Amino acid sequence: MPPRLPFGQVRNLLIQGHIIRRMSSQHKVYVTRPDVDDSGLELLRKSCQVSTWHETNPVPRSELIRVVAGKDALYCALTDKVDKEVLDAAGPQLKCVATISVGYDHIDVEECRKRGIRVGFTPDVLTDATAELTLALLLATNRRLFEANKQVYNGGWKSWAPMWMCGQGLKGSRVGLLGFGRIGQEIAARIVPFKPTEITYTTRSLRPKEAAAVNARHVDFDEMLRESDLIVVCCALTPETKEIFNATAFQKMKPNCILINTARGGVVDQKALYEALKTKRILAAGLDVTTPEPLPIDDPLLKLDNVVILPHIGSADIETRKEMSRITARNILAALAGDKMVAEVEL
Ligand code: DGY
Repeated sequence: MPPRLPFGQVRNLLIQGHIIRRMSSQHKVYVTRPDVDDSGLELLRKSCQVSTWHETNPVPRSELIRVVAGKDALYCALTDKVDKEVLDAAGPQLKCVATISVGYDHIDVEECRKRGIRVGFTPDVLTDATAELTLALLLATNRRLFEANKQVYNGGWKSWAPMWMCGQGLKGSRVGLLGFGRIGQEIAARIVPFKPTEITYTTRSLRPKEAAAVNARHVDFDEMLRESDLIVVCCALTPETKEIFNATAFQKMKPNCILINTARGGVVDQKALYEALKTKRILAAGLDVTTPEPLPIDDPLLKLDNVVILPHIGSADIETRKEMSRITARNILAALAGDKMVAEVEL
């Protein structure tokens, strides 16, 4: 007969066994950042085993490949490339990849489709924040705010002068939008009160109802390049839009044209942009996104006066980022339960 254990010890073993059983039936989720808002992580922790990368810089790829093994869901960001290698490393139990971003060009969605892995993202919630930042960047670029601000500190401000630091007003200008989804439409709505001569948009398919709301006209890409005083990039990065702003495109643009990009750096051939800005082929550029990110501090673009560069802060509004964290968590919980996600990429 085995020795009898005291009651307390038996009870403890039973509790531990219960916890271990409960834990092992819980889904395992890996979060690639520790600094996403905790409200999202709290939602996950209620029913999942959550582990996170511990530094505020992106998880190294080798580490991601190591820790993703055996996970049921991956909570990632646009700084993580989720490709075949990562999906292979995760294993066949992986059910969901959810990104805390509207853009999902960092995820191999075709590979996810083949494996039946659902992909979540965070559209809508960041539309206003991104449209607002786009307007801020646009005004900062065409009215030369950063360049003028520097003069205050470096002694360049000698006296008021009639033509000094003059920019190009938005009023009376032709504004072209490449992309006319949710963000593009909200950018257009915010531009209307500035009284542009015309707003045009370039997309694969016409959006007559949304265009009518802001009095925008559909044009092809060439017409947008030839006619616009300001071009705003607000499209997704796809094989079709990759480096669509190249040397040929810059050749077609007006010399007073200003290019604003708050979408993805990859839409612009950055070497060609540098040449176009340096040679004054176009007037200026405002970029919230670059290739690579972060842009190395010795990048030639940073030596030019006619470019304003921000560190990818389009959606960086506190409430927006908190809600993005919660939506990403809800996407994961829904996918794990086999329910409808808040926002799912159609595969
Ligand atoms: C996105 O969500 O894709 C933005 O680029 C960052 O919020």
